[in-house]
Amino acid sequence: MKVSIFGLGYVGAVTAGCLAEQGHVIIGADVQPEKVDAFNTGRSPIVEPELDDLLNTARREGRLSATTSAQEAVLGSDVSIICVGTPSLESGGLNLDFVRKVSEQIAAVLRSSGKKHVILFRSTMLPGSTRHMVDDFLTDLRASGQIRIYYCPEFLREGTAVKDFRTPSLAVVGTHDGQAPESSEARELLGGEPAVLGWEGAEMIKYSCNYFHALKVGFANEIGRLCKHLGEDGARVMQVVCSDTKLNISSYYMKPGTPFGGSCLPKDVSALLSFGRQEGISLPLLANTLDSNQSHLELLLKLITSKGLRKVGLLGLSFKADTDDLRGSPMVAVAENLLARGYEVRIYDPSLNLSRLIGANAAEMKRRMPHLESLLKQEVGEVIEHADLVVASKKCAPLEVLKPLVRPNQLVIDVNGWRDLKTLPWSYEGLCWS
Ligand SMILES: NC(=O)c1ccc[n+]([C@@H]2O[C@H](COP(=O)([O-])OP(=O)(O)OC[C@H]3O[C@@H](n4cnc5c(N)ncnc54)[C@H](O)[C@@H]3O)[C@@H](O)[C@H]2O)c1
Repeated sequence: MKVSIFGLGYVGAVTAGCLAEQGHVIIGADVQPEKVDAFNTGRSPIVEPELDDLLNTARREGRLSATTSAQEAVLGSDVSIICVGTPSLESGGLNLDFVRKVSEQIAAVLRSSGKKHVILFRSTMLPGSTRHMVDDFLTDLRASGQIRIYYCPEFLREGTAVKDFRTPSLAVVGTHDGQAPESSEARELLGGEPAVLGWEGAEMIKYSCNYFHALKVGFANEIGRLCKHLGEDGARVMQVVCSDTKLNISSYYMKPGTPFGGSCLPKDVSALLSFGRQEGISLPLLANTLDSNQSHLELLLKLITSKGLRKVGLLGLSFKADTDDLRGSPMVAVAENLLARGYEVRIYDPSLNLSRLIGANAAEMKRRMPHLESLLKQEVGEVIEHADLVVASKKCAPLEVLKPLVRPNQLVIDVNGWRDLKTLPWSYEGLCWS
């Protein structure tokens, strides 16, 4: 394929070298003449293992050139990959000026030439940015079918960028509607078995990954400084933590839904935070974890109360599936809050048998919800029949049982990803998805 690459920095130069290695013909485009000169003499404009060799070979074999002219780059290629910088603004926001400039330039060339083209946005851009670029510069070209536009985030790491390109950790293609791409360039050029999402979903994936990486570094460092203070080896502690691939380094605890609760996480996070304070160790990530959890609970409550429906049915009360433990359960907090506001609440949770609740669990319920017994129903039908709004936090009844009970004028809020509820004849809304 003939590929133009806009922006010959870390991402663009590596992409150029690796695609040329695969036999594609590359035209690099940059506003900095030194980078263009480097490409045209087969040198890398950045320091990155293996890259000088790749660019040198590509240049010698006639598969690499560069220009400062956007027109030359677009006219000489079938696909343009946009890798220009997206630096921070003074405010901390994202500066999209370079992407806007390149989009405008590419659009002008295509409009005047009538040439068919594929554009792959690769720069890291906040959700909504690709659509803004299309709305501002490319709508007519897309509507007429002259161009196809994909957003394909880049996940390479400087220092191992060439290796990362050859075996990507993740491949993602964003399309305008989240459906399979209409053509294969993104997959052919960028490799991997890409996950396909809408433009915004693909943009969000890049930010989710970097947020997660930053969070991991911050977490490891907080554990590390606590360990040092205790005379322990922080690296060894983290090594053991990471050796648990069932709960720790895994997708467990990584699904959006109910805030965390139960008898351990809130208590232990609080205890460690208070220990840090007492010992003078700053643990802002840990402190904000509790705030974040509280915000999520408030968001759920806001969603429920925003519906203006005062007869509410809760499916699930204990803090997670297959347990009767009510201690620290976010759904107990939801029930308490709704009752305090005068909502009429009924609850169904087959794992709860009040007469069998004993010890701390029973004591907490007596204190927090003394009337629980009268709210808790034995049959799911009693809850569905009563409710104008159902809040489902646990899969506590088979779909076939729910189906004849639900009504079209009823609304269900799905807290934990029980997506089958969408197939029933009521209005459906997810807590973290639509
Ligand atoms: N560096 C990384 O490790 C990495 C990894 C993944 C994603 N990203 C993202 O990829 C994008 C590029 O990052 P980078 O590190 O390669 O940036 P960079 O600053 O190294 O390079 C960007 C290049 O774009 C050029 N440019 C600016 N305006 C231009 C225009 N109008 N026409 C042509 N070229 C133009 C600049 O001159 C520069 O050479 C950013 O959005 C970044 O967030 C970077």
